[in-house]
Amino acid sequence: MKHPFLPRRLAVYGTIALLLLLVLTAEAWINRQSRSDMAEDTARAARTPSSTANAQRSPLRVDTQTVLVGQQLYRAYCATCHGTSGRGDGPAAQNLDAPLADLVTRVQPGLLTDADLYGRIATGMPDSAMPAYADQLTEEQIWYLVAYLRSFKAPAVVAVPIPTFALTATIQTVVPTIDLSVELPPLYADTNEPLPPLVFARSGNIWHSDGSAADPLQRTQFAEGEYAGQPVYTPSTGRVAFVTVSPPPITSTSPYPASALYTMNLDGSDQQVMWRSDNASLYLPSWTPDGNALFVMHNGVQDDPAQSDDWRPQVVRIDLASGARQVIIEDALDPSLSLDGRKLAYLRLHDDNSTMSLMVANPDGSDAREVVPGDGFSSFFAPRFSPDGNTLVFAAIDGPATDAKGMPVAATTRSLVDGVVGWFQPPVAEAHGAPWDVWRVNSDGTGLQRLTSFYEDLPMAVFSPDGAELVIMGYGGMYRMRPDGSELRRISPLGDHGALDWIR
Ligand code: HEC
Repeated sequence: MKHPFLPRRLAVYGTIALLLLLVLTAEAWINRQSRSDMAEDTARAARTPSSTANAQRSPLRVDTQTVLVGQQLYRAYCATCHGTSGRGDGPAAQNLDAPLADLVTRVQPGLLTDADLYGRIATGMPDSAMPAYADQLTEEQIWYLVAYLRSFKAPAVVAVPIPTFALTATIQTVVPTIDLSVELPPLYADTNEPLPPLVFARSGNIWHSDGSAADPLQRTQFAEGEYAGQPVYTPSTGRVAFVTVSPPPITSTSPYPASALYTMNLDGSDQQVMWRSDNASLYLPSWTPDGNALFVMHNGVQDDPAQSDDWRPQVVRIDLASGARQVIIEDALDPSLSLDGRKLAYLRLHDDNSTMSLMVANPDGSDAREVVPGDGFSSFFAPRFSPDGNTLVFAAIDGPATDAKGMPVAATTRSLVDGVVGWFQPPVAEAHGAPWDVWRVNSDGTGLQRLTSFYEDLPMAVFSPDGAELVIMGYGGMYRMRPDGSELRRISPLGDHGALDWIR
């Protein structure tokens, strides 16, 4: 996932607005070109891929919501043949003349352009059972499907394109044995251990694993149009808080999503809406220790739209008994309280609207200190405290160069070989977006350390109740490791962007 943050986190809504504009423009163009009546024009617009479909790349930015919408469509229309995971093992595939190709390998970058995929879905494939969907699905829906197909994870062997500038004589003598397709050493073992006791979000619903080998249980039943994510648990009341997002209807003139903050029991009973906002998104709630209040990011239009129609993220505290809300910090996102409730970690959005710092403040927002400055990092995501409040883990893109132990090193001490190796590392995550890794830092700003080099897609890390372990969920699976980065292994290949919490 490329852009989970503000303003990037909103990019998908901006994109939807843009897409609407494109569709409207295309329609207007068709109306002008054609003498025929409106009804015929509309029918034609639905059948023929217009301007947006001619783009080589999808006009949609791949984001959680895009992928989730695509996933719903895929399940409804495609899984019957291609199978839920794209492997060609759907129930209807048995009745086809020839076995289906593995879609997962077909949608990896470099083989087919987004426009190729669009074309195959819209017009079908000649001499095959692949139906044409242009009459049943809108352009936007087909692009959502393309976005979802692109999120299919590549198999472990990755063909690494060699940058042409790496093929100079100098570098070939340094690394003489580079092949066009290299088998990367495994970044982690796959263990298929039972999940620890967790609440997590998958496919737009909240799930619960009890720590046994039993399958996790789905605890919410949101259907298409409302996607649940970011569950957090509080032992004080046994409640789970989470948010839902509903993308704006494709016909809406306002590109804003609606969002709601819920609480419920761990078994899914007694769901209550604490805050519903029709023109904003709510994101990443965090409990106060007594379970009586939640901190959450609110991002929406200002109260007075004339003043500014720009979205500014705020950290808001909501008292659950009274419903009273109080803005704690402006231009801040991803709030997370320490378990004793005495420290509040959050991300401060800088004036350029794109870079951020990791901050720690008092829970009323006072005494804010910068713990990790934004320099060198392209993005941060979801800081979480260790149980003792002394350490923070967070996900980040880029960051300072580090040594083998993950400790930052001065740029000049990086060897040429490291530089070359660096070019070859990222492809693992390329299938679905910017490469994120997990970092830690002491809450006083010392001890910055990179914990992973797995380039996951929007990983979120949380501590175990005893602080001795981390569990991480990214789009490519669930992982477990020690808080120093050792013993990293993937415990489940089923991941998501939905976020998680370890039940204490
Ligand atoms: C009736 C069965 C069936 C259904 C339903 C179906 N497909 Fe296909 N699909 C096929 C067949 C058959 C092929 C071509 C042969 C192959 O890929 O093995 C194909 C090919 C494709 C390809 C091209 C792969 C390539 O190698 O170029 C894409 C992409 C694709 N399907 C996507 C979809 C999507 C998205 C949907 C749902 C909107 C869908 N299909 C629904 C049967 C189906």
